[in-house]
Amino acid sequence: MTMKPYYITTPIYYINAAPHIGHAYTTIAADVLARWQRSRGREAFMLTGTDEHGQKIEDAAKAAGKHTIDFCDATSALFRDLWKHLDVRHDDYIRTTEKRHEDKVQELFALLLKNGDVYKGKYEGLYDVVSESFVKESDAIKSPKGILLGPDSGKPLQTLSEETYFFKLSKYGPALLEHYKANPGFLAPSHRASEILRFVEGGLEDISVSRTKVKWGVPVPGDPDHTVYVWFDALINYWSAAAGTTLWPADVHIVGKEIFRFHAVIWPAMLMAAGLPLPKKVFAHGWWTVEGKKMSKSAGNFVDPYEITLEFGVDAFRYFLLREMPFGNDGDFSKASLTKRYNAELANDLGNLVSRVSEMVDKFLGGKLPVKPELTPDFRTTAVARRTPDIAAKMEALDFSGALDIIWEVVRDLNALVNEKAPWKLAKTDMKACELVLFDLVCSLRLVGGWLDPFMPATAAKIQMQLGVRHFPDLLTAEDVLAGKKEHPGPILKGPVLFPRKI
Ligand code: MSP
Repeated sequence: MTMKPYYITTPIYYINAAPHIGHAYTTIAADVLARWQRSRGREAFMLTGTDEHGQKIEDAAKAAGKHTIDFCDATSALFRDLWKHLDVRHDDYIRTTEKRHEDKVQELFALLLKNGDVYKGKYEGLYDVVSESFVKESDAIKSPKGILLGPDSGKPLQTLSEETYFFKLSKYGPALLEHYKANPGFLAPSHRASEILRFVEGGLEDISVSRTKVKWGVPVPGDPDHTVYVWFDALINYWSAAAGTTLWPADVHIVGKEIFRFHAVIWPAMLMAAGLPLPKKVFAHGWWTVEGKKMSKSAGNFVDPYEITLEFGVDAFRYFLLREMPFGNDGDFSKASLTKRYNAELANDLGNLVSRVSEMVDKFLGGKLPVKPELTPDFRTTAVARRTPDIAAKMEALDFSGALDIIWEVVRDLNALVNEKAPWKLAKTDMKACELVLFDLVCSLRLVGGWLDPFMPATAAKIQMQLGVRHFPDLLTAEDVLAGKKEHPGPILKGPVLFPRKI
């Protein structure tokens, strides 16, 4: 039996404003994971897209003086263009205003109506338009003036009183707890998983899943005065995009910590109610602040990915986001820390190593390596190749910074090897030894290039080209190098500087 593709998703983004680094972070992480799976020979399928219904979008379109769908088309395109610019290779891009999705929302809603898990009632309570969520009075924050504010958004809440359909979330508490217990890897990282556990153990209430006051949404089947609540609609995207394929269930949903509950509680309960298999993992990453402050409209400190990549390049941006903080933790973005890592790790450690090695092979060996030199016991590539499973284990656990730590340990070891063996001296005294050490360095660096490919695809391609691997993406695996395959398919030439230093 062939394995189904590794199916990975990002949240679908609200299109009331242009994308910023927060959106780029999740999407790049998903792309890196998908590329990693592909590089190991597993077919991967990456889904991203945009969340286009609901009051917030309706209001934003109105404020922009546009027809809602025209507004959606324009802003959704901004996200799609950014992914292209950031070298994100998604396999599908779903928009909740597409018919293929709306049909599936209605199908699922009708199914739950039929089996009694969705029923009609009345909602009287608070609503937060910014996070598009119903808020319990006990969770609301009171402003000094006595106004009730959303706990996440800090913005004034609306008071709703409308007829609504409810989803029997309360019924699924015990089944959810059982599922968490039986599948310890289902929710990650563990500190966030325990918050969810405590929340569900505290008892779940049924939730409202339709609105009568919001027109911009999917009509409830058989009751067009209601539209489906935007979160109920949005979560279904992961399943509707998989229609007619073998993709479902998803292997991993990557989400930000603020929307973990929707994905760890409501979505699995919806799937249980529909008798559908559950995703294998939901991973909640942390949040970026900028120069120590939360990004917000009022602070005007949204970081524009175009601005950063214009200055530092796409690959350095991708690298920094995944290197700076462990996936799952919060972290801070600043140009100072980006510049520091860029100069130290990319320009110095990596860039210099590649240029020194290719330059020496060019200069001392005329760009050609020995076909199969006799290896000595201290041949470094053998040990370097043994790091591949360690890196793979980190990647499987979505520990991107951990994987990069290992890669940089190797890069630093190789720099130390260059200094220790001093091939420029050997070139004068012992040509055989010089050939061997350069052969060793090139083979090891080809492995490094392969490991880096998911993180920095363009840089990895440049490294491999300089090291004589002409048919990119025909990257070398550890096994290839050790089996003596494709040792030096083309001449080794020094190329342009990979990361020019920043001052
Ligand atoms: N539309 C919902 C998601 C529905 S999924 C079925 C939504 N959209 S959003 O546009 O607000 O994007 C949320 C996602 O953007 C977060 O989950 C997170 O992945 C990312 N981020 C937004 N700001 C962020 C930071 N400051 N830092 C890191 N990521 C953040 O919620």
